[in-house]
Amino acid sequence: MRLRATLLTSLVIFLAPVALPTVLAQTSEAPVPQVDRDAGLAEWERVYEVFAHPRCANCHVEDDRPRWSGPHYGATRVHAFNVQRGEDGFGNPGLRCTTCHMETNSPVLHGPPGAEAWHLAPPEMVWFDQSSAQICAQIKDPERNGGRSLDEVAVHVRDDDLVGWGWDPGPGREPAPGSAEQTYQAIQRWAAAGAPCPED
Ligand code: HEC
Ligand code: HEC
Repeated sequence: MRLRATLLTSLVIFLAPVALPTVLAQTSEAPVPQVDRDAGLAEWERVYEVFAHPRCANCHVEDDRPRWSGPHYGATRVHAFNVQRGEDGFGNPGLRCTTCHMETNSPVLHGPPGAEAWHLAPPEMVWFDQSSAQICAQIKDPERNGGRSLDEVAVHVRDDDLVGWGWDPGPGREPAPGSAEQTYQAIQRWAAAGAPCPED
């Protein structure tokens, strides 16, 4: 026992000059090593391009008005017909989203697009007109993302019907970039790299 302890002590004394500076160097570094941060930011860029795309952001607004955008609409504008969020995101009592938005897309150009339970995202999940840094902070904040872990955010993107609509938006509308599965993968890789956010 005593011999072992002595051996261990001399080993520690022998290794200390080598090990200590390494440990210090590691602790003084940023929490996420630089190479992971760069890789993570590249993944975030993929996620951001989807979230900021009009097919997603037009339903993720802070005010009460969904947006219409793309060449097919002229430019970005508020939703016609005085459509508003209402108490529950499904519109005012007299003009519910589901009066016009069915469970599938209208096949007609300018016809209402559709998916099950069509309604606005809650105002705290705002992406429209927000910077990459702002969207990144929002999506990581359980207070503002519906209490989701990043894995749950990724699964929502892969499996939710309203999200899926963004890649199958009906005639005349540009789909969001990539696919639901690719975005799911990008969120997982971004999370694995420490989920870094760009500076403002
Ligand atoms: C009076 C019918 C009507 C109501 C009510 C209505 N919409 Fe629409 N909405 C439309 C039509 C029609 C279009 C397609 C317009 C076009 O393609 O020119 C559309 C398109 C949209 C789009 C696609 C915009 C884009 O750029 O991709 C979104 C998002 C949307 N509506 C959200 C909502 C939400 C949320 C509600 C309820 C709060 C709602 N709408 C209520 C008729 C309606
Ligand atoms: C028709 C409106 C609509 C469209 C279009 C839409 N969303 Fe949403 N989104 C919602 C609603 C409503 C919620 C809230 C659902 C909940 O919390 O259960 C939501 C919540 C989310 C969330 C949960 C976490 C958070 O902080 O926002 C994610 C992630 C998300 N949407 C991704 C997308 C992506 C990606 C697209 C485009 C490919 C998209 N959404 C398009 C209505 C929409």
